Amino acid sequence: MKSIVILISGRGSNMASLIDAAAAGTLPVRVAAVLANRPAAPGLEFAAARGIPTRVVDHARHAGRDAFDAALAEAIDAFTPDLVVLAGFMRILGDGFVARYAGRLINIHPSLLPAFPGLHTHQRALDEGVRIHGCTVHFVTPALDHGPIIAQAAVPVLDGDDAASLAARVLAQEHRLYPLAVRWFAEGRLRLAGGRVELAAGQDADGCLISPALRERR
Ligand code: GRF
Repeated sequence: MKSIVILISGRGSNMASLIDAAAAGTLPVRVAAVLANRPAAPGLEFAAARGIPTRVVDHARHAGRDAFDAALAEAIDAFTPDLVVLAGFMRILGDGFVARYAGRLINIHPSLLPAFPGLHTHQRALDEGVRIHGCTVHFVTPALDHGPIIAQAAVPVLDGDDAASLAARVLAQEHRLYPLAVRWFAEGRLRLAGGRVELAAGQDADGCLISPALRERR
């Protein structure tokens, strides 16, 4: 069975969705460890309570990005994971780090990339007046929130939404999408070709999820 290491910075609800899916048997991976760059990341407690090894690599205790990246890589490699999963990990990783895990480092971002890379995605989506918003799982490349897209989930933007209500609607889809994308990796169904992801045929979705709220409108 393939193993994963999950990197978090905070709440860890995406991490929890992966741990729960693995425990339920719907995600065929072993969660080898959860690593955080903040000692107070609430998600650490959840992971530890599930018996998953946790480690903290505190960015504040390292002099510069290179030293932090090296310490993080050392902590990750101790668990020899097949895949490194960023789940609300709020540090920018250097080019060397990204190259070291090329093809086995993925991230979830709360927008339909390439729209709205960076922070405050939900408010920016509201400000632009988009009607459809969502989330993206992608392979990590040196450019921030930019890399071959594995899967996306779409939600409607509703009249009266604020950033919090929109974030909650997107987050519900994140919790469906990330376990699905990690499963595809674990099943060996993802292939990178010409900078794009090809998904080998399977019985389930084809890389695109649509929230029930949006499906009802079609
Ligand atoms: C999620 O919206 C994720 O897409 C983004 O940061 C948030 C993390 O939430 N990268 P959580 O820590 O997984 O609850």
